[in-house]
Amino acid sequence: MSSTMHMHGGIGESIKRKEDGRFLRGKGNYLDDFVLPNMMHMAILRSPYAHARIKSIDTAAASAKLGVIAVVTGELMAQHKLAWMPTMSGDTQAVLATDKVRFQGQEVAAVIAETKYQAEDALASIIVDYDILPAIISPDGAKAEGAALIRDDKEGQSDNHIYHWESGNQATTQAAFAKAYKVVRLHTFYPRCHPAPLETCGCIADVNPATGKATIYMTSQAPHAIRTVFALVTGLPEQNIRIISPDLGGGFGNKVPVYPGYVVATAASLLLGRPVKWIEDRNENLISTGFARDFHMTGDLAVDKDGKMLALRVHLDSDNGAFFADAQPSKFKAGLFHIVTGSYDIPTAHVTADGYYTNKAPGGVAYRCSFRVTEASYLIERLVSNAAFELGMDQAEFRKKNFIQPEQFPYTSATGWVYDSGDYPKAMDVALKQLGYDEIKKDVEARRKKGEVTGIGIASFTEVVGAGHGAEFDILGLRMFDSAELRVHPTGKAILRMGTKSQGQGHETTFAQIVAEELGIPAQDVAVEEGDTDTAPYGLGTYASRSTPVAGAATAMVARQLREKARKLAAHLLEADEEDLVWERGKFYVKGSPERSKTIQEAAFAAYTNLPEGMQAGLEGVYYYDPPNMTYPFGTYAVVVDIDKGTGQVKVKRMVAVDDCGVRINPMIVEGQIHGGLAEGFGIAFMQLITFDEEGNCIGSNFMDYLIPGAWETPKFELGETSTPSPHHPLGAKGVGESPTVGSPAAYVNAVIDALSPYGITNIDMPVTSDKVWAALRSKGVTE
Ligand code: CDP
Repeated sequence: MSSTMHMHGGIGESIKRKEDGRFLRGKGNYLDDFVLPNMMHMAILRSPYAHARIKSIDTAAASAKLGVIAVVTGELMAQHKLAWMPTMSGDTQAVLATDKVRFQGQEVAAVIAETKYQAEDALASIIVDYDILPAIISPDGAKAEGAALIRDDKEGQSDNHIYHWESGNQATTQAAFAKAYKVVRLHTFYPRCHPAPLETCGCIADVNPATGKATIYMTSQAPHAIRTVFALVTGLPEQNIRIISPDLGGGFGNKVPVYPGYVVATAASLLLGRPVKWIEDRNENLISTGFARDFHMTGDLAVDKDGKMLALRVHLDSDNGAFFADAQPSKFKAGLFHIVTGSYDIPTAHVTADGYYTNKAPGGVAYRCSFRVTEASYLIERLVSNAAFELGMDQAEFRKKNFIQPEQFPYTSATGWVYDSGDYPKAMDVALKQLGYDEIKKDVEARRKKGEVTGIGIASFTEVVGAGHGAEFDILGLRMFDSAELRVHPTGKAILRMGTKSQGQGHETTFAQIVAEELGIPAQDVAVEEGDTDTAPYGLGTYASRSTPVAGAATAMVARQLREKARKLAAHLLEADEEDLVWERGKFYVKGSPERSKTIQEAAFAAYTNLPEGMQAGLEGVYYYDPPNMTYPFGTYAVVVDIDKGTGQVKVKRMVAVDDCGVRINPMIVEGQIHGGLAEGFGIAFMQLITFDEEGNCIGSNFMDYLIPGAWETPKFELGETSTPSPHHPLGAKGVGESPTVGSPAAYVNAVIDALSPYGITNIDMPVTSDKVWAALRSKGVTE
């Protein structure tokens, strides 16, 4: 028996993950494990072209194939007013194309058959006559003179521009730039990448013809919001829709949106009266579901002659694909990008953003990222390092000189964010010490003299996670609170149900630990359930590292409510005044007489068996938590690289990651989260690219071209920690899941650019592949 089994499982204990027993034995219940009686299978025909008018669709041959039950087209969906659906950004998206296809991989028709193979085979027999149109694959292409109009379906849309958005103060920023000693500019592209969860997306729609109840098993990170959107789109009464999100094999933002396949499968089940299963293959997942990033960014940093930052000016062009479907709070067109001043006390800033339609898949999902924080963090951290190189200052010193200081919190940034707490110099010091920065710097200098290419990269990121508060943050009008419902059974065991949805982050363990801490019921006695909209309280779901800041807080609050009722029950049992009772985790005792005590389990039993006069039975409650502010985790990452001049190959020799997410509920799980995120950040920085040729053909929609880092490629991660609690979170915890993906790409790339800076190279856009590094070196005349 492991020693952790004896632990109470409160906050700060690295207990093993409760859910791993079933996962490690291969006994998880993922969507594809569900087989319903009489179930049919669906396959989707996708457009081979990026932009083409549909002249006709002939489904006769496909309909006649063995096992085929129905072939669904946009025209059929239109008859039921379901050819178009709303996106998360309030735009419209074609469910099945009726007029045009607008990206390669777009959904054109669907086959419903008895088996998956029959459905897949019949797709080849659908004949679509296309009239090919010119494809637009970048914001520059979208705004070019005479560019084809992608969204000619939208009334009043005369070009490919979607939005213009601004934040900060233009006048004061301009004035500060006028006085600058130096202005450092970085133009960089954060390329389109993909969350690529191990399990792809899918659903089983089961509309019961007798009751009209639609039970939809779905790979969803936000089942409640999906239920509401489904009710609005299909017109089904919301109480007749049940979304069940079973075990998820990763999500990373990819499983937040409603995808056309969900709508078609549900409509098909409704019309045919049988369950319909649809599961994407890998290629479909990479080519058509929520991509991430695709921001073209220009940043200017104004500094004075002492190296103090004076102002920041940023413009970005966002490539949104054919439908504006970004996952983001309604108010913020470029997500939370305007946190771009990062960890620095920059007096004034001005941020502008323009979004464009292109012939690419829609998405803009929050891939392990609080909406667009990753792009913001990448830009500022790359820009700050470049400024240090240009000023001839040490990267760490330049940062320290400009950090927001611990005593400045709560700190209001130039774009209006109120940072809750932080100690950036401390995280930096811990990281530099752990790395042995001074020694390594000397080593780098010595080796450069010998002609070696080597460098150090630093990123001191600030994150913003835990949306809402609801007054400012909503998705399609739904306020971004979250919830926890706790029921303590007569025997003192409990069930906690939540509006969030784990995709592998260990919620069944960490949220039980919060109950253990607050109510004294051991974590192993608390079952945690998420993902069934018929049983869980309403919540906005899990993405953008919001579970701990929001639902974790809801859990603490509901447990505290129950503790107060338990106090009354204990007072009744002890025949004492409740004011005289002292709480010690797990029990109440009478002040001055510790032997006169009642455990939480005894109080729970009394809630069903022996109540004080006038008290309602039961020990349960629900709490909807609307946070007063976001939480601001942060950290410093430091990377050392060697570059081979002959091949351009980059070797990451060291990667030190110091994270501060306030109070850690389960330190082992937090470290696991950081390891995973650093690996994903490594993949983004060095390996991954979803790109397009001039005709809009998507290159990289398979794992031969889109490279997922494994243990072989990723460096050894050396973790460090500081802890600055959030002052407004009931437990002092901040989110952590996305910090490493947000912070690490800039640290990796800064190390490469530091190594190349002696040759006058100031930027290489991600992914920093060997061929790009080789070409950059050769362009400066550097050979082996
Ligand atoms: O929303 P999501 O679960 O993706 O992100 P998170 O809130 O950052 O939590 C990821 C995992 O780390 C969860 O199991 C958390 O409870 C755990 N965690 C923790 O133990 N302590 C923290 N301060 C933050 C997260």
